[in-house]
Amino acid sequence: MLLKTYPLKGILADTRPDGGKFSIMTATIGTAIAPADVHDKLAEHLLTDGFKLVLDTRASQGSWIVDARTDERYLDMYTFFASAPLGLNVPGVVEDPEFMGLLAEIAANKPANPDIYTTHLAEFVETFVRVLGDPALPHLFFVEGGALAVENALKVAFDWKSRRNEAAGRSPELGSKVMHLKHAFHGRTGYTMSLTNTDPGKTARYPQFDWPRIDVPALTFPVTDEALAAVEGGREAGARAGQGGFRGQPARHRVLHRRADPGRGRRQPHARRVPVGDAGPVP
Ligand SMILES: Cc1ncc(COP(=O)(O)O)c(C=O)c1O
Repeated sequence: MLLKTYPLKGILADTRPDGGKFSIMTATIGTAIAPADVHDKLAEHLLTDGFKLVLDTRASQGSWIVDARTDERYLDMYTFFASAPLGLNVPGVVEDPEFMGLLAEIAANKPANPDIYTTHLAEFVETFVRVLGDPALPHLFFVEGGALAVENALKVAFDWKSRRNEAAGRSPELGSKVMHLKHAFHGRTGYTMSLTNTDPGKTARYPQFDWPRIDVPALTFPVTDEALAAVEGGREAGARAGQGGFRGQPARHRVLHRRADPGRGRRQPHARRVPVGDAGPVP
């Protein structure tokens, strides 16, 4: 058993008798596997082509990731593919013992939200509508994960487009193609496999729909006349591709919608392979 001393915050910290700020205590916490052994242990059963560092979930703070193997700090420009935009161990979360307790209570039970309802879900929905809601869009659908969010958006759009075509006297079979961008990553589930086209290894040998794919003009540095001409060429090719491939019916009836979600604030593929210190390549 390995022992490491951490400042303890949030739910584990004592609240002051006056009910005010929490006292910061230190505690020695044991882990069964040494940080230095994490990759080797994982590699026995999992693919470990991700980061070379081992995230220290306690010592990392805000925009600084700490490597549990060395205690070295790295500026976090990754944020778990932008799914943790607030950073790590956000004080407003981890220093609120009541909220940490609530999270633990829900995590320990993990109710199946679509079927069984809790006060927590009702409070979440109410807060979501108050903070991010749009009165024009009163109906919400929640699903866990980016690819499943894309899948469900596609399902809604397929349904809408088919009905719209039918109502206009066109075939309801029309409107099943999803125009999308070259170099896009939208996930690795059913429909998203036909949209994702970054590393071929992610989609090779899987059945895919032949949906219209559009070139993306990307500027490379240094900015030379050739680089600018390539951008211009890409833009024209993209525009042509947007019009092509839809024989018989105008493209607007055949194309369900254009998928170009910026995801969770994610970098574009062109900017993805940026080494972060010696922590290894961004996957
Ligand atoms: C733009 C975009 N769409 C979809 C996904 C898939 O999300 P998930 O891995 O949560 O299924 C990602 C994941 O990185 C993404 O960046």
